[in-house]
Amino acid sequence: MSKGKSVFRCTECGADQPKWGGKCDACGAWNSLIEEPLGPTGRRAVGPAGVPTGQSPIRLTDLKSEAMARWKTGLAEFDFVLGGGIVPGSVVLVGGEPGIGKSTLLMQCAARLERQGVSTLYVSGEESPDQLRLRADRLEEDAGGIHVLGETRLESILHHAAQLKSSVVLLDSVQTTYTEELEGAPGNVGQVRECAARLMRFAKESGPAVVLVGHVTKGGGIAGPKTLEHIVDTVLYFEGETTLDHRILRAVKNRFGSVDEIGVFRMTGSGLEPVANPAAAFLAGRSTGASGSAVTALMEGTRPMLVEIQALASKAGFGTPQRVATGLDHRRLALLLAVLERRGGLPFGNLDVFVNVTGGVRLIEPSTDLAVLAALVSTVHDRPVPADALFLGEVGLGGEIRPVAGVERRLAEAARQGFRRVFLSARSRGTAGAGDLEVIGLEGIGELTRRLAA
Ligand code: TYD
Ligand code: MG
Repeated sequence: MSKGKSVFRCTECGADQPKWGGKCDACGAWNSLIEEPLGPTGRRAVGPAGVPTGQSPIRLTDLKSEAMARWKTGLAEFDFVLGGGIVPGSVVLVGGEPGIGKSTLLMQCAARLERQGVSTLYVSGEESPDQLRLRADRLEEDAGGIHVLGETRLESILHHAAQLKSSVVLLDSVQTTYTEELEGAPGNVGQVRECAARLMRFAKESGPAVVLVGHVTKGGGIAGPKTLEHIVDTVLYFEGETTLDHRILRAVKNRFGSVDEIGVFRMTGSGLEPVANPAAAFLAGRSTGASGSAVTALMEGTRPMLVEIQALASKAGFGTPQRVATGLDHRRLALLLAVLERRGGLPFGNLDVFVNVTGGVRLIEPSTDLAVLAALVSTVHDRPVPADALFLGEVGLGGEIRPVAGVERRLAEAARQGFRRVFLSARSRGTAGAGDLEVIGLEGIGELTRRLAA
């Protein structure tokens, strides 16, 4: 590795040190030194959003506001999450745990772009071209037109991308790429950050789009302290349980579209397949007619999604009864159980309680409280809730049921999926969009338990 001059800069106080150390001599912070390039080539030539410097100021009105050109990959859910396709000159980071399907996603995108005449270069530092070929053979898409390159040195990657005049460069992964300007090993924070910044500069100056794969560490961040997220234009996370078929692509940052949008895919034997009806994707396989199951509608960005919540209460053995929550914060479960016990008169003191959100979905919104309660009441009485009922509402400590945001869209989706009645707060507004849905307004959880027992 021929190395240029570099310096170790403290991310806490900004002091420069000639050598790496565990502690910054200037401010005493630990583990804060990150390698950065120094000297004529190392000075940053980009502004805040990666725009090359050396330009003259210009009036906003003198800039043409053209509709942004985008390359649609044709992988519908991917295009949707990006906000309509890949923007030329942008840098997209796709993060996710190993084995979730990032490389597969990128290869399918490349294949589809290539088929439309958008030239792509797929660079892999993790797999050899032969291994990429094997992957491509599994896919339903014809990936034959993609240029592939097994390379980890950034300077060489940029050289080939410029030579080929590739429109989209896909780099798998940013953690295996290194620049020879820094001494550090590939994958360390200084390397990852510098490589991303250089790719950003390359994209802004030369116009191709860059799609980066980033491995998510145990803590959930990409390459340590989330530094990458600040550099790139768009950050997508690819999530899901590797044991389940469904994969969720979520935008957490997007300079050219909205955030919190999700796309749903299914991993099949021949690659990823966009799910045509994502709203109901997680309801597949629901056992209607069993007790302890209730359905609610979550908002994922602008899209409502229906999910099933399952609860099971059974007589506890010795000792403290168990409380097990999957896909739901266990403290939220404890709170809801306490409210049911005190305000609803249902004792859980000697019952083990298990709550599970199906499809590997995580409940974050409190609007799902009412469905959790309904599932709990249902399992305690061993009496199924109506299969065509939806539950929407936040539950307060006093046992009151509060309205939730975006009711109209949630109800419209539920009606489309065949639901016939909805339990929600009596104070909910915007139930006009309910169509044929029967609206059952509840003041408190006493009414819920009465209704479900009736
Ligand atoms: P991969 O894209 O290699 O994941 P990542 O790059 O995020 O580490 O794919 C991971 C898994 O997907 C792997 O276990 C094999 C499986 N897979 C399929 O089920 N079908 C397919 O068509 C392909 C290509 C992979
Ligand atoms: Mg991979």
